[in-house]
Amino acid sequence: MATAGTVLLAHAGVYLHTTLRGKLHVWERVLDQAGLKGNERLLDLGCGRGAVLIAAARRLPAGRAVGADLWSKEQSGNSPEVTLANAAAAGVADRVEVHTADMTALPFADGSFDVVTSALAIHNIRSPQGRYLAVNEAMRVLRPGGQLLVADFWPMARKYAAHIGQGTQRGLGPAYWYGGPWLGTTLLHAVKER
Ligand SMILES: C[S@@+](CC[C@H](N)C(=O)[O-])C[C@H]1O[C@@H](n2cnc3c(N)ncnc32)[C@H](O)[C@@H]1O
Repeated sequence: MATAGTVLLAHAGVYLHTTLRGKLHVWERVLDQAGLKGNERLLDLGCGRGAVLIAAARRLPAGRAVGADLWSKEQSGNSPEVTLANAAAAGVADRVEVHTADMTALPFADGSFDVVTSALAIHNIRSPQGRYLAVNEAMRVLRPGGQLLVADFWPMARKYAAHIGQGTQRGLGPAYWYGGPWLGTTLLHAVKER
């Protein structure tokens, strides 16, 4: 009983750390390593309340950070109003926009973004076909030479990479565990062919 309680507590602690701090630190590093010039158009798929969207916007003083979401229940309190308020509080409202859009059928033109990000969102689509559609859409809206940066649970990220037939994968470490290594997160990084 005591052992089960300790395991549960440890699980909850790791989960909370990842949600409140770990994933933000990881994305700060991922975005720093993306070599942004500051004038890019970036799309964040399943932006939720805006953690990645806003971290990206801080790096885009002359660019645009666009969030797409269906505002479903996978994240509490997500809504366009909340995300825009978070962007305003962070001082980046002037370069942030949000769209109510399904990532399996994006309302954006081919090649219209320099960078597409997605953090723990694509796996929420129930069917594998739907998840692959989202990855196809991400690649479609990227310009040639544009970067795809997707963080998702490692078995999913592995499948997305196999689906597009390219990209590097790296584990994002304990800071992005949802309870333990069995729910570790992997970053898929791909560059669209020119
Ligand atoms: C777990 S939350 C992650 C939010 C944010 N990326 C983060 O890391 O804080 C997943 C988000 O994906 C959104 N989502 C799920 N399915 C979607 C779909 N088909 N199209 C767009 N957004 C979707 C949910 O509404 C939710 O906001």
